[in-house]
Amino acid sequence: MNLVLLGPPGAGKGTQAKVLSREFKFLHVSTGDMLREALKEGKEVGRRAKTYMDKGELVPDDIVIDIVIERISQEDAKKGFLLDGFPRNERQANQLDESLARVGKKVEMVLYFKTSSEVSIARLSGRRVCQACRANFHVKNMPPKKSGICDYCGGKLIQRNDDKEKTVKNRLVVYEKETESLIGYYKEKDILQEVSGDLDVDNLFEVIKVLLQKEGLK
Ligand code: AP5
Repeated sequence: MNLVLLGPPGAGKGTQAKVLSREFKFLHVSTGDMLREALKEGKEVGRRAKTYMDKGELVPDDIVIDIVIERISQEDAKKGFLLDGFPRNERQANQLDESLARVGKKVEMVLYFKTSSEVSIARLSGRRVCQACRANFHVKNMPPKKSGICDYCGGKLIQRNDDKEKTVKNRLVVYEKETESLIGYYKEKDILQEVSGDLDVDNLFEVIKVLLQKEGLK
């Protein structure tokens, strides 16, 4: 099955994507992670993306669309993929649909994480990420066993540049301006499933699991 996770910054898309891809063996494709990885590896595309990401703006479509289409064309995406952070506007959604149609595929379900802005802001301001393995924590909701240290690899936990207050505010504005209309886009196609992003991690996972099991996934 091919899935899209849609919702504002901090809705918990990345957190659920990790658990769902483990449980249901989806390929997890996160555009944010791919762009951050490209930057870490010193690639030109990563350097170009950083100037937009640091301001909370969307990275130009030509950069993002190409990396996603290339990734989901690979062998390990054949059994199904889970897109986290893509598409983020109607142009990206159209291009995704067209590329998939060319190989006889489509997006089959969109999980929309409806989340209040208070929850988004609280989650993003408290998020800490491992510098080494990119694992996600939250100072209150998902604290590491030892403050500032990753539970999995012992790496240093840092705050993402774009999780600073001013950038978070702009990311939410950009979401409303550019991305929110995708709710209607996918509703019209009758593939949108709304879930509450305000739920805690385990309860939200249970809700999604039931939806996927109804579609025959095990
Ligand atoms: P990206 O990395 O995709 O960021 P985002 O969409 O803003 O999403 P986040 O990662 O901030 O939030 P999330 O919903 O994944 O929440 P998470 O699970 O981490 O994009 C970053 C930038 O890259 C963009 O601003 C843009 O510049 C660029 N970009 C990326 N894709 C692009 C595209 N397609 N086009 C153009 N530009 C693009 O959770 C957040 C925190 O809350 C964590 O600390 C977590 O521990 C905690 N938490 C999670 N779930 C719960 C829960 N249920 N209860 C309590 N705490 C929770």
